[in-house]
Amino acid sequence: MRIVYLNPCGKLGGAETSLREVLASIGAAEPDWELWLVLGEDGPLAEIARNLGVHVIVRPFPPALARLGEGGARSTWWPLLRAAGSAGSYSRRLASLLRQIKPDIIHSNGFKMHLLAAWTCPRHTPLVWHIHDYVSSRRLMSGLLRCFGKACTVAVVNSKSVSKDLLAILPYLHVVPVYNAVDLQRFSPAGKRLDLDALAGLPPAPSETVRVGLVATFARWKGHKVFLEAMATVSSEIPIRGYIIGGPIYQTDGSQWSKRELQQEADRLGLGNRLGFTGFLDDLAPALRSLDIVVHASTSPEPFGMVIIEAMACGKAVIASQAGGAAELFDDGENAVAHPAGDAATLAKRISWLASDAKLRRRLGEAGRATAERLYHGKRLATELLAVYNQASQHTHRGLAGVSAQPQVTMPAGTRSRTK
Ligand code: GLC
Repeated sequence: MRIVYLNPCGKLGGAETSLREVLASIGAAEPDWELWLVLGEDGPLAEIARNLGVHVIVRPFPPALARLGEGGARSTWWPLLRAAGSAGSYSRRLASLLRQIKPDIIHSNGFKMHLLAAWTCPRHTPLVWHIHDYVSSRRLMSGLLRCFGKACTVAVVNSKSVSKDLLAILPYLHVVPVYNAVDLQRFSPAGKRLDLDALAGLPPAPSETVRVGLVATFARWKGHKVFLEAMATVSSEIPIRGYIIGGPIYQTDGSQWSKRELQQEADRLGLGNRLGFTGFLDDLAPALRSLDIVVHASTSPEPFGMVIIEAMACGKAVIASQAGGAAELFDDGENAVAHPAGDAATLAKRISWLASDAKLRRRLGEAGRATAERLYHGKRLATELLAVYNQASQHTHRGLAGVSAQPQVTMPAGTRSRTK
């Protein structure tokens, strides 16, 4: 069996972190399978995948295609036309590459690759779209996915919430929710920690300081401003220090904060040494371990929220926005604590509450780790994806080979699924 994975970005955003676990878990479950990864940009993911035994080919996107995002396309048609032009020549090269590799399955990750894959996928090769984000709010992408949806054999999504959203746009699609996994060895309570103060260029904090971190890319909806406002609201008598961990990693136009904008906001709120920026970190596990409280503050419904399960796996007390797929990942008050998305005042109360109660933090952290061990491990991910691949292969070749018994795909209760 030979699978080609297609991913636009070489840096590690959420969808790439998810893909890393897909590659690792499929590689472990089926060591004889040949896994290939074609990237539209060079970056750390290439090396990570090579170390997992994956054949990696980097075919950089032309700049107009790399920069195109909803933000850029909304303002004018010009970026879209330019991107369409360069996508044409890129897709011809991709098609020729796929003809050489001769995959049994193509698994695309990321919107641009879904479209390019639909365009170039050889006939009779099943195409699995792995959709990590809401589609209905993106007009351009919804329209394009509708045009190309017939080429997709199965769409894997990361939560029930994303499944519902996708089916509203493409009701005929066969959609299978598969929750992401986390590497439970790397993301564990014991291991290397970091000097976050030094990384942020701050003087060492007093020993009783409770460290609170927002770990996210600089996408505008990740709630950096809500976090800053909450940090400024927490009483100065509570010894806390906040850290913004991450950076503006995407190439798309108009979709993310710059460090300068966030620093200005922190200055305006008078946060001073109560807050620091560590910058982007390749390895998040040591950073998470160095925190006492991990905050997830997305202001729009979060499709999944990798950091929530990573922080749970590290045994940390997590405060997460209760919206979208993120709300499916934990039970409020049991293994994490919820706050309404975008509500800085409530977030400040939750931070103050956990910062003042070390026992509660420990209880939440232990329950979080137990949940990660029960639900978010790679074996479960591999079992569910293998069922999807099996289903996709039979589906595409139905006319040739006929469909035998239905494979077992574990679907969370209440999820709709339809056959093309
Ligand atoms: C995307 C989503 C995020 C999710 C990740 C992995 O980045 O926005 O919510 O955690 O994909 O599925």
